[in-house]
Amino acid sequence: MFEHSVYINRRNKLREQLDSGIVLVLGNVDASMNYPSNGYHFRQDSNFLYFFGLDIQGFAGVLDIDNNKDIIFGDDVTMDDIIWMGDQPTVKELSEQVGVVSSAPYKDLAGFLKQAKSKGRKIHIYPTYRGEHDLELSKLLDVPCSQVKGFVSEPLIKATVELRSVKEEGEIQEIEKAVDIACEMHTTAMKMAKPGVIEREIAGTIEGISLAKGGPVSFPIILTINGQILHNHYHGNMLSEGRMMVTDAGAEVPTHYASDITRTVPVGGKFNQRQKDIYELVLSANMKAIEHTKPGITNKELHLMAVKTIATGLKDLGIMKGDIEEAVSQGAHAMFMPHGLGHMMGLDVHDMEGLGENYVGYGDEMKRSTQFGLSGLRLGRTLREGFVFTIEPGCYFIPKLIDRWKADGKFKDFLNYDKLEQYKDFGGIRIEDDVLVTADGYRVLGKPIPKTVEEVEQTMAQG
Ligand code: GLY
Ligand code: MN
Repeated sequence: MFEHSVYINRRNKLREQLDSGIVLVLGNVDASMNYPSNGYHFRQDSNFLYFFGLDIQGFAGVLDIDNNKDIIFGDDVTMDDIIWMGDQPTVKELSEQVGVVSSAPYKDLAGFLKQAKSKGRKIHIYPTYRGEHDLELSKLLDVPCSQVKGFVSEPLIKATVELRSVKEEGEIQEIEKAVDIACEMHTTAMKMAKPGVIEREIAGTIEGISLAKGGPVSFPIILTINGQILHNHYHGNMLSEGRMMVTDAGAEVPTHYASDITRTVPVGGKFNQRQKDIYELVLSANMKAIEHTKPGITNKELHLMAVKTIATGLKDLGIMKGDIEEAVSQGAHAMFMPHGLGHMMGLDVHDMEGLGENYVGYGDEMKRSTQFGLSGLRLGRTLREGFVFTIEPGCYFIPKLIDRWKADGKFKDFLNYDKLEQYKDFGGIRIEDDVLVTADGYRVLGKPIPKTVEEVEQTMAQG
C-alpha cells in the first residue's frame, strides 16, 4: 500500500473530472474453486486498489461527488474470522490508512444507494467482469441483473483511464520491481531449456520464483515449444533440439503491479541459421519500436514500423515478395504477426482492459482498424509521458493459417507459399519488453534481460 495521501490525491483527481453523483467501486470477494471453503487465490479489483488501496475481500468504496465525501463500507472481523483467518484492524482503522474518514458496515450500503436513487442522484459504476459483481450490484441497486449495465458510466470510465494511464513515480518503481522478478524468471527458464525437459518443469520453477518473491504470476504462464499458438497454456511437451521455446511470463508484486516479458530461445542453447534469421527480424522490430518511443508518436505508428521491419526481412529471406508498403497496407504480413505490438501495463497486465479496450487504447482519438492483424492492436493512440506499455512483436508460422490462405489464393502477390511450406515446422518467436514513456523518449524498465543472440546463448550456456 502507498501513503494515504496517494489515495486521497487520486480520489480528488477523479472527483474533479466528474460533475455529480456517486461513484461505487466494488471490491472483490473470495471465489470458490470446487467447494465453498476451497478458494482461488484472492485478487482485489484493480480500480478498488487504485482508489481505496485495501487488499481485503468484502469491501466497497464510495465517492460521494456532490457532498465531497468518501466512504468505505465493510465489516469488522468476527471472533470466527479471527480464529480461522486471523485478526485485522477495524474497518475504521483500515479506512484511515487510505485517507478515508467515513466508514460503515457493509449492510448499510444498499440503504445508502437506495436513498441516493430516490433523490434522483446518478450512480456511476464500472463494467463488471465476474458473475458475482452482477448479482451483488443487482441486490445493491435493486434492479434485475439485466439492468445493472445501465449504471455503467462512460464519464467514470474515461476519467479513470485518464488517471491510471499516467503512472506515478511510486507506481513505476513497483512495476520495475515486477520486471526484475521477471528477469530472474526468464534467465532461469533459459538455463533450463534443454532437450528432454518437460515444459511444465520450467513453467513450475519460474512460477515458483514469482511466488517466492512476493506475488503470483501476473497472468497464466505461456511457456511452449509451440509458440505459433499465441496464448498456449499447455505445458506437457518435451523440449527437443530444433524447436524454439517461447516464454511469456511476468510477476505481480505485493502491491499488485505487473510485469509482462517474453523471450524466445533455441532448445539446447544454440540458434541454428534458420532460427537466427527469423529471430534477428523480430529483435530488430522490437528494438526499432523501442528506439522510436517518445511522447507524441502513436503506438499505431510503432506497430506499423515493427511489422514493416519484419515484412522487409521476410522478403529478404524469400518468404514475402512484392512491394512491402503495399503488402502491409493490405495486411498480408498479418499471416506472420496476427496480433498487436502491445498494450498498457500497470495494476493489470493488460492495464484497465476491464474498462474496455477501446477506451484505453484508442479513446476519442482514433478508430480501431478492423483489418485482420491491426484489429488486434490493443493500444493505438498517442503515447504520453508516464505511460507504461509493452512492445512485443512476433513472427509465427501457423500451419493451418498458411493452408487456408494458400487454398483461398490470398495475397499471392506478397506471400511465397512454396517457401512457406518449409517453415511449417518452425513454431514462433516473440520478444517483449516493458517500456516507460519519458519526457524525451523512453526507458526500458527493469534490469536488462538477455535478448541478443549472443546474450541468450551466453545465458543458456550457464545452465
Ligand atoms: N502476456 C500475454 C499478453 O500480453 O497477452
Ligand atoms: Mn503482453
